[in-house]
Amino acid sequence: MTVGTVASLFAGVGGIDLGLQAAGWETVFVSESWRPARCVLAERFPGVATDGDVRELAAIPDTDVVAAGFPCTDLSQAGSMEGIAGENSSLVRQVFRLLSSSEAEWVVLENVPNMLVLHGGAAIREIVDSLETLGYRWAYRTVDTRFTGLPQRRRRVLVVASRSRRPQDVLLADDAGPRSADDFDDRAYGFYWTEGRGGLGWVRDAIPTLKGGSTIGLPSAPAVYLPGRPQGRRIVMPVIADGERLQGFPAGWTAAAARSGERDHRWKLVGNAVPVPVARWLGRRLADPGDHHDERHGGRLDRQGRWPAAAWGGSDGAWVSAVSEWPVHESYVHLRDLLDADAATPLSHRAATGFRSRLEASGRSVDEAFRRDLTIHISERLVAEQIPA
Ligand SMILES: C[S@@+](CC[C@H](N)C(=O)[O-])C[C@H]1O[C@@H](n2cnc3c(N)ncnc32)[C@H](O)[C@@H]1O
Repeated sequence: MTVGTVASLFAGVGGIDLGLQAAGWETVFVSESWRPARCVLAERFPGVATDGDVRELAAIPDTDVVAAGFPCTDLSQAGSMEGIAGENSSLVRQVFRLLSSSEAEWVVLENVPNMLVLHGGAAIREIVDSLETLGYRWAYRTVDTRFTGLPQRRRRVLVVASRSRRPQDVLLADDAGPRSADDFDDRAYGFYWTEGRGGLGWVRDAIPTLKGGSTIGLPSAPAVYLPGRPQGRRIVMPVIADGERLQGFPAGWTAAAARSGERDHRWKLVGNAVPVPVARWLGRRLADPGDHHDERHGGRLDRQGRWPAAAWGGSDGAWVSAVSEWPVHESYVHLRDLLDADAATPLSHRAATGFRSRLEASGRSVDEAFRRDLTIHISERLVAEQIPA
């Protein structure tokens, strides 16, 4: 049974749409300008009205929900950091233009937590101000994707707005608090092999955020350390099917991108996406809002001060929310169980050597067993790749 309809702007490969669909919502319109993503949408959402550039839309069809995971490239730490006025992230203004002639009951936006911090929170301030000008009430919340059980430490800000309903009942009514350390096991650790000097992104039983929105260089998947595997296969790169599953898609979801005629962009498409189960949880709450206790929270929001991890409000005032980044605890999928360890490629000798040099130069402390296995891995790869010593 369909609970309502969705117009999806900046649809990417449809992470929001697939998740909302699992909660009963039906996407009837998508706008996406990038050809590889459009190939995936055409295959996965056949018959859905599709348009290209959001800037060229005169209007959007009447739907119950308007969803927009707008570009993060100017807001993310991996991007230009130009902020909400940057060429790509400023496209959120197109959403507000289109909302001025829309009767949608709900609006859903998604972006990176840095939008609360960069330039004193200019992005979130502009978003809530614009929503209020259009007559919306709003709530936003930072969530850690691991609340859904996916083994990916991916923090994102969800924004929900409505002219007639209470967005805080959708976004802020559930709060399970952080997961217990017992939910995670020691069979796999994720990290950015491209780093070493700065943040390693080291995570137990999860990978750090899959990235796609960077304007700098090619997106590359994080590596995974599997202490129980044979030497030489302990430090591996996940394959694209793992990447798709790490975002909650079925393996092979983005295969149609190959038909775009462009080089392989699947990692970027996957890294850009909203994790499917995050949107599924949201979709369930949009269909059946909870009961948020407004009085139990942290006082008035100072819009000129620091923006908190979660808040709600409207033109009559705004309040700080004390909720955690963990709305619920869906059953946890261990990284070791999700990953196809036999298909994963060992980190190459070159990549592993470069990573070790950066790590040594940084002087940062890492797990001793990992440091030892990294050295053994480099020797094993030297032989396996038949590199003259
Ligand atoms: C962060 S991604 C959204 C991912 C999507 N929510 C998902 O789950 O797959 C932003 C998307 O906006 C698209 N985009 C950028 N500029 C656009 C424009 N002017 N019109 C339509 N789409 C655009 C990009 O190609 C990219 O796929």
